[in-house]
Amino acid sequence: MKHLVTLITVGAVSLSIVSVSLNTALASGKPHEEKSVASPNGKIQLAFDLTGGTPTYSATFKGQPVILRSALGFELKDGSLKTDFSVLDTKNSATDEKWVQPWGESREVRNHYNELAVTLQQAGEPHRKLRVIFRAFDNAIALRYEWPEQPGLKDFAIMDELTEFAFANDPMALWAPALRTAAAEQLYAKTRLSELLRQTRLERGGETLGGSPKKDPVKAVSTPLTLQTADGLFLCIHEADLTDYAAMELQPRDNSTLKAYLAPWSDGILVKASAPCASPWRLVMISDKLSDIVEGTPLITRSLNPPCRIADTSWIKPGKYVGIWWGMHMGKYTWDQTKPGEFTPEGLGATTKNTRDYIDFAAKYGFSGVLVEGWNKGWARDWVAHAAEFSFTEPIPEFDLPGLVVYGHGKGVDLISHHETGAIIDNYEKQAEAAYAQCERLGIHHVKTGYVGDEPRAKHYGDDGKLIGPEYLDSQYMVRHYRKIAELAAKHHVMLDAHEPIKDTGESRTWPNFMSREGARGQEWNAWADDGGNPPNHDVNLVFTRFLSGPFDFTPGILQVTYPEYRKNNRVNTTMVKQLAQYVCFYSPLQMAADLPDNYEKHRDAFQFIIDVPCDWEETRMLNGELGEYVTIARKQRGGEEWFVGSMTNEKRRDFKLSLTFLSKSSWYVAESYLDGEDADWKTNPFAHQIEKRLVNRDSTLSLHLASGGGAAIRLKPASSEDQSKFKK
Ligand code: NOJ
Ligand code: CA
Repeated sequence: MKHLVTLITVGAVSLSIVSVSLNTALASGKPHEEKSVASPNGKIQLAFDLTGGTPTYSATFKGQPVILRSALGFELKDGSLKTDFSVLDTKNSATDEKWVQPWGESREVRNHYNELAVTLQQAGEPHRKLRVIFRAFDNAIALRYEWPEQPGLKDFAIMDELTEFAFANDPMALWAPALRTAAAEQLYAKTRLSELLRQTRLERGGETLGGSPKKDPVKAVSTPLTLQTADGLFLCIHEADLTDYAAMELQPRDNSTLKAYLAPWSDGILVKASAPCASPWRLVMISDKLSDIVEGTPLITRSLNPPCRIADTSWIKPGKYVGIWWGMHMGKYTWDQTKPGEFTPEGLGATTKNTRDYIDFAAKYGFSGVLVEGWNKGWARDWVAHAAEFSFTEPIPEFDLPGLVVYGHGKGVDLISHHETGAIIDNYEKQAEAAYAQCERLGIHHVKTGYVGDEPRAKHYGDDGKLIGPEYLDSQYMVRHYRKIAELAAKHHVMLDAHEPIKDTGESRTWPNFMSREGARGQEWNAWADDGGNPPNHDVNLVFTRFLSGPFDFTPGILQVTYPEYRKNNRVNTTMVKQLAQYVCFYSPLQMAADLPDNYEKHRDAFQFIIDVPCDWEETRMLNGELGEYVTIARKQRGGEEWFVGSMTNEKRRDFKLSLTFLSKSSWYVAESYLDGEDADWKTNPFAHQIEKRLVNRDSTLSLHLASGGGAAIRLKPASSEDQSKFKK
């Protein structure tokens, strides 16, 4: 095989393109063409191959195969886009730019890649064209399809996307099942990829996993999917810029191959499209350092989205909030407006009095928002069944909506409005314009949406009142819906936090008012799950999976981790200190302090960390960690000099030394460390803790003890001269 190495210079950047146009395939007599593009640092090679008219791609890292030849293409309703192709043209380009995040894990993002665009055309009538765009980043590859404007393709229906990811060996995978009739709120398993195949086989699926195995066998897994190869590489498969397309789940095809698996519309079509258009990006992060995956995935995902479409983002502000929420999940309060006092000691949560008390609490401790659920008409005991009755504009008589907004503003606290749709989409869409306009008129700057629903998940009705659907949450229909609401919210200057959402694929770059979302098992499961709640490894798993896609409103900070007076069979399966560590390890620009105010007063010393910790960052570093085992993250406060460190472990207790070399050179800091007590244990002694203060600088090391199911949370504050004489080194 003969390789032609061409050096092309684009702007100030030069890149090496290995262009091979020859016939090795050649043995088989099939015409063969290959193009490749290297990452800016040269470590990743991404190759496109066309053999006998069939396109494939592959990738190597430092010369080692990572992705073997993998399929590309589509089945359409009226034909296919998988073979019969020849290369019409290829284009190379390079980009090295920086953009600033209005909020984020870091202020600045470097978007640095080399690109190869290959336009293909089919020989047979109607000579359809398909373009594949490949990007090679230093720690990732990405590819997307474009359907150029062309006479042979206008409106079309995708019946299958053929994109595959074939691995060179049988890596370990940290995965959660993608269930179509349930929200993305599953536990993670760490198994070999081949085991994933066994557990998700169509005929056997759901035996071991999933909420409703018979109705909804496990056929695929969610992205981000994180993998670790035997030779020490870390990979993460995800997608970016999910616009007007179905979400990508991944289905194992054999022991080492995953295939794109898209949720269909109720009529069986996967994607309804009209050329010119483009697919989302298929992204594979690749590095020999897990920290590159943890730090880089959300940033590259966002960079693959178009720039911000909101001209003035000054109204989009990160903040911490409290809310009338955990009380309902505990059964202290209720949402039920039909028989409020019947089953709960204190009746309705969303009353004017309770909300005033929460606003007072928020103001006292510096929180910027108070979430109120159940303020609007329509909540019944079985509210899921009655979801079509929700109003999104009318408050209940017990709740003085305009008065409370004014009361809050007087204290510097915003009211966060809650819209539970029950996944009855047409009821929500019909009222959405009026509801968001009302928010703007009253001065409500945040909405938390919810999409809880039994099957059918996403109901919508035609103009004739007939049910169309149900549609899956991962379907193109719902992708369109979530985007519609994000754009509507932007129009009315409302920041959005969606529960039971579509996954984050970085569109907050374009619509930064879509600040946070759920989309994984959050804290609420600890209130009521029959399976006993989130196991101690769950939070660690989240950092390596769900959080790679972007912010997650986990609702951390339940310091009163046991609550037998409300829920005898439930508790939070962590130590109290691990709840503090979540504020650093779990990134969300809208971050909740989820516990009851009384519990914060009770645990006032530990609560101080929640008061102090910011939720917007200048930079983020993963200091140590192992998939499914433990993780330590450091973040620098945006617009300030403080650093915060969070460390979390699974069931295993750990002791380690933490070097502080990330601190600036000559400064002294006061380290305020919130640590598990020596005898702490999530199960038997979850509240034991100690708070230490000492002087440190970048040459110091801290000794951390993490209890079983425990953690550590540290604030590093520049030391004043007074501090320097007060605290020990
Ligand atoms: C599910 C959400 O995750 C939770 O936060 C909310 O309280 C309920 N839906 C009710 O809307
Ligand atoms: Ca939920």
